[in-house]
Amino acid sequence: MSFSLRDLDYEDIKTVGSLEQELFPVDAWPLQMFYEEFFRPDTRRYIVAEVDGVIVGYAGVMIIDTTADIQTIAVLPDHEGRGIGTALLHELLAEAARRGAQEVLLEVRADNPRAQLLYTRTGFTKISTRRRYYRDGVDAWVMRLELPPAGAPGDAGPESGPSGGDNENTGNVNENTSQDSGGTEGDRP
Ligand SMILES: CC(C)(COP(=O)(O)OP(=O)(O)OC[C@H]1O[C@@H](n2cnc3c(N)ncnc32)[C@H](O)[C@@H]1OP(=O)(O)O)[C@@H](O)C(=O)NCCC(=O)NCCS
Repeated sequence: MSFSLRDLDYEDIKTVGSLEQELFPVDAWPLQMFYEEFFRPDTRRYIVAEVDGVIVGYAGVMIIDTTADIQTIAVLPDHEGRGIGTALLHELLAEAARRGAQEVLLEVRADNPRAQLLYTRTGFTKISTRRRYYRDGVDAWVMRLELPPAGAPGDAGPESGPSGGDNENTGNVNENTSQDSGGTEGDRP
């Protein structure tokens, strides 16, 4: 079963807000936060992943000057392990590169090895730990990815993923992939 990525629409926000409650039981963003993020397109981009017209994942990035922050990324459990998280992340990295970011930061729970693996596979490295960052007292790893300068060989532009791998979702809205699938408010991942 294939999935596609597209930009988050205003009408999607309630759906994404309820997925958020399901996926982040400890530190879900309040619905209002998604609306606030949505209305800041100058520094934000939010996308969703769909299967058969149903949202199964979402992700967002904030880009200010030359630094991007992955704000959130999530895929419904039934759809994990099919490359959707990777595609969402690659699209955000491509967006960051398009807007001139030179580095990408994120926080990830110290007890979330699955997400950590997604990030390390994509080229992120752990740069520090924030003690008791999350509401339930769990530490955050701060991770960082340096983006190559725009136009450099192997950059995160439309044709290549951040680690130089295949990335079929780095264009804009509604690109189908060829995948067969069988704490703290703010930058939370
Ligand atoms: C972390 C998260 C976003 C990863 O999403 P995902 O869609 O499962 O990620 P991917 O499928 O791209 O990659 C996960 C695995 O599937 C494998 N995979 C990728 N494409 C695949 C495909 N086409 N077929 C089979 N497996 C595939 C990857 O190799 C990877 O293997 P791993 O389990 O050894 O890491 C997801 O688990 C999630 O939403 N978790 C809950 C919320 C969360 O923790 N968010 C992160 C906050 S920091």
